[in-house]
Amino acid sequence: MTDTLKIRQPDDWHLHLRDGAMLKAVLPATAAHFARAIIMPNLVPPVVTAQQAASYRDRIVAALPDGATFEPLMTLYLTEETDPKDVLVAHQSGLVHAVKLYPAGATTNSASGVQNFDKIRAVLEQMAQIGMPLCVHGEVTDHDVDIFDREAVFIDRILDPIRKKTPGLRVVMEHITTADAVSYASSQDDSLAATITTHHLVINRNHILAGGIKPHYYCLPVAKREEHRLALRRAATSGDARFFLGTDSAPHTDANKLLPCGCAGCFTAPNTLSVLAHVFEEEGALDKLESFTSLNGPAFYRLPVNPGHITLERSPPVIPAQIETEDGPVTVFDPGFPLHWKVT
Ligand code: DOR
Ligand code: ZN
Repeated sequence: MTDTLKIRQPDDWHLHLRDGAMLKAVLPATAAHFARAIIMPNLVPPVVTAQQAASYRDRIVAALPDGATFEPLMTLYLTEETDPKDVLVAHQSGLVHAVKLYPAGATTNSASGVQNFDKIRAVLEQMAQIGMPLCVHGEVTDHDVDIFDREAVFIDRILDPIRKKTPGLRVVMEHITTADAVSYASSQDDSLAATITTHHLVINRNHILAGGIKPHYYCLPVAKREEHRLALRRAATSGDARFFLGTDSAPHTDANKLLPCGCAGCFTAPNTLSVLAHVFEEEGALDKLESFTSLNGPAFYRLPVNPGHITLERSPPVIPAQIETEDGPVTVFDPGFPLHWKVT
């Protein structure tokens, strides 16, 4: 039995850090384990220009614990007004590594997102030319489409047509949740990749809804049927370079989760690596963990692999159930099983 596992230091290719007091409270959990992360721009107001991304980056760096080395890889929030020239400036700055597409109304702070996809044509052409990845929240928002079908419908109605119209556009399907997304990503060329969260490898929709409603398991895209979770597990543990970790760790205070209309998001930053090691071991694929957390992402983003390593050891980690913030506690994702891998 393997009792220690040394892997390249991981990166998180999809992370919400928020701002202000919340940023300060949640950043240490990510910086403790991860070298870099793609930082989501859905602040209020959103991070839409290269200049805003640079100052958000400064705030993140300023919030790092003493001695921590962590590199925020910034993104721009795509709106119908985004200027292709600003995308170019952002790309040339070397600080901005992707543009994030939220369909308007799809999720937290997505009101400024895209409604009319024809209005972003020029930006997409520009991105295809410079090779900048488009990170896509892949869900339609049509009220007549069932929430459990929104990802599959998005692939057919929006994503595939956009990719066909924009040859060379590099796309990351973010936080995929369906077998449909796995098979679409697997069937395309290497201009397409997909991130998978930690929690979608662990929970299906029963975990949210059966035996009482569990707001801490509610996120978007919402977890689907068991067959989809199993497809995600096969993709994540396959070693296929198109699939890599994006935790979508999305902190909300308990006060904002436990409401009649609660926020979407699972806060997985503190225990992600322990949970992943557990999942990969269950799948008999501990040897594939490093590809998923540390190798496939840099390859897609055309960045070097991290120079350092981390070691996981078979022993119960000490992870708090909640972290405290100025606005109250934030509950850490509960995988529902005891963890026995810790990062040393
Ligand atoms: O569950 C989610 N939470 N999904 C998202 O797409 C956004 C995120 C957030 O920002 O809270
Ligand atoms: Zn997200």
